[in-house]
Amino acid sequence: MGRRILVTGGSRGIGRAVAEDLRCRWSDCEVLTPPRSELDLLDEVSIRSFLAELEPVDGLVNAAGINILGKLNELDDATIEQMMTTNLIAPLKLIQAVAEGMKRRGGGRIVTFSSIWGVRSREYRTLYSMTKFGVCGMTRALARELGPAGILINCIAPGFVLTEMTRKNVPEEEREKLCAEIPLRRMAEPEEIARSVAFLLSLENTYITGQTIVIDGGFTA
Ligand SMILES: NC(=O)c1ccc[n+]([C@@H]2O[C@H](COP(=O)([O-])OP(=O)(O)OC[C@H]3O[C@@H](n4cnc5c(N)ncnc54)[C@H](OP(=O)(O)O)[C@@H]3O)[C@@H](O)[C@H]2O)c1
Repeated sequence: MGRRILVTGGSRGIGRAVAEDLRCRWSDCEVLTPPRSELDLLDEVSIRSFLAELEPVDGLVNAAGINILGKLNELDDATIEQMMTTNLIAPLKLIQAVAEGMKRRGGGRIVTFSSIWGVRSREYRTLYSMTKFGVCGMTRALARELGPAGILINCIAPGFVLTEMTRKNVPEEEREKLCAEIPLRRMAEPEEIARSVAFLLSLENTYITGQTIVIDGGFTA
């Protein structure tokens, strides 16, 4: 029987590429990609009922996320809560839930998603940076706590990846200028992020934990 891995955000973008990569790579692996109708990270009841039915997993990838840009005076309570819940609080709840099963099974692998805006920042990304710096902190603290139980947890911090999120937040006319600032002169394809996620999830990863792996074509170098 292969491993069972839960991937959030599997409907599109990076999460979908991660799920496709894992299914291709490990044919005996069960990759769970619940649609929002089964797991809505903004809905406490949905999270609880999804977790109540979830069988123990060997791996978790918290890829779902949102990025609502805004000037300081535009950040209303609803947006603050939406960003904090989707990007930070719900991922923590999923880790809380799956870690117990992983401990009982002797270990596991968890991958969280930060961003280059969780390592440095840029104007109008206040909420995004709050949550993504938070994800890095959460990952480090949990690596220390869960390491003795054989659970390795790492954070991926992508630069600019060609997904709906980037298409929405980086207008086409700005993309060429931006690519000129990236040493590799292009944005990433989701599949390029997925390959690193697969390694961190694999049993070949025996000693990397608590790290933020920046994958940005050299942008922050
Ligand atoms: N794209 C980039 O350049 C980039 C850079 C750095 C970091 N990241 C991070 O990488 C991760 C994936 O980003 P992406 O570019 O693939 O984003 P995306 O294309 O916009 O996809 C977002 C995914 O998150 C899911 N999602 C959002 N809100 C949800 C909710 N309340 N409940 C359940 N699922 C929800 C979406 O599901 P639905 O289809 O149901 O909406 C979708 O599957 C995110 O954490 C993002 O912050 C992305």
